[in-house]
Amino acid sequence: MIREKIRWGILSTGSIAHSFVDDLQYVPDAEVVAVASRDQATADKFADKHNIPKRHATYSALANDPDVDVVYIATPHSMHAENSIMCMQAGKHVLCEKAFCITAKEAERMIAVAGKKQVFLMEALVTRHFPVSHKVLQWIDRGLIGDIRIVQANRCARGHFRPQQRHLNPQLGGGSLLDVGIYVVGFASMVYRRQPRRAVGYGHVGSFGSDEQGATLLEYENGALAVLTFALRTEAVNEAYIYGTKGHIKIPNLFAVPTRALLRVSGEKEVVFEQEINGKGLNYQVHEVHRCLRAGLLESPRMPLDESLQIMRTLDEIRTPWAFKYPNDAQ
Ligand SMILES: NC(=O)c1ccc[n+]([C@@H]2O[C@H](COP(=O)([O-])OP(=O)(O)OC[C@H]3O[C@@H](n4cnc5c(N)ncnc54)[C@H](OP(=O)(O)O)[C@@H]3O)[C@@H](O)[C@H]2O)c1
Repeated sequence: MIREKIRWGILSTGSIAHSFVDDLQYVPDAEVVAVASRDQATADKFADKHNIPKRHATYSALANDPDVDVVYIATPHSMHAENSIMCMQAGKHVLCEKAFCITAKEAERMIAVAGKKQVFLMEALVTRHFPVSHKVLQWIDRGLIGDIRIVQANRCARGHFRPQQRHLNPQLGGGSLLDVGIYVVGFASMVYRRQPRRAVGYGHVGSFGSDEQGATLLEYENGALAVLTFALRTEAVNEAYIYGTKGHIKIPNLFAVPTRALLRVSGEKEVVFEQEINGKGLNYQVHEVHRCLRAGLLESPRMPLDESLQIMRTLDEIRTPWAFKYPNDAQ
């Protein structure tokens, strides 16, 4: 039975876990009841900061906490499958940070456990739930730009990462494709509402042994294309464009906190959609989790599990040409 307030547990205490809990203030029917870290002092510090009543010194204690309905997984990519599966085995619903996991094989295992345990599971691909994304999909569905022929998107960040940090650390599933490339590949998947028949990728493997930057060209039926770039040590403008047979759409700053989308239909005046975003916008995906749980859905129609699996297959294909393996590839 779903309660009036849905009770969240936070698995890990890193940077995005803080932002996520901050943004839950914009979801009135959510409450954070517990947090877990690998270390009691870290869990206590996080709980004190956010006023969370229960704090656990192991992730499994959180998975087995009877006061928790949904667990938010915010560990490094290499641990998403293991952590999600443990929580679902204990009967918890799960919102798992992007990238969903490291390999399509892991995604298959996660989805199988969700089905077996009859719990909700969703990848936290936040971009998809922003008001701007909904508006863009409406424009596309109304046929305003005709048939989509080309999608172009760029997601870059210039970080000064240390080797042990997760971002570029292959042991933790780091690298630009899984960390930020997922956004542009997920965006193409959202816009085309189907998967490419072919993906080619180029990745530059840098001094930490993972891809610092890369590019992919996705080819769809009828020759439609997505041209996507991603990087973790490159300063860039993060924009997305959708080009159709009758017009085009531009979304500035899509992959941070997007507030605008611009529609230009051939021969007509530009239309601008604008909507401010609360906090960092992590709350919109939580509304979707709550909506699904209250409707008795075990997956989100906006971010279906089969799509997360297909995206992982595409990511596997994109990184085939560059010559490094994650530890998870062996499993
Ligand atoms: N949606 C977004 O906008 C967004 C933005 C940034 C990141 N993310 C995603 O969120 C996830 C976490 O990213 P983050 O930037 O928050 O990472 P982070 O700051 O490095 O935090 C990760 C946390 O995972 C836990 N952990 C467990 N095993 C670990 C290990 N072997 N090494 C390091 N940490 C370990 C740690 O918590 P304990 O010490 O408490 O166990 C750590 O604080 C990633 O999947 C990332 O792609 C999403």
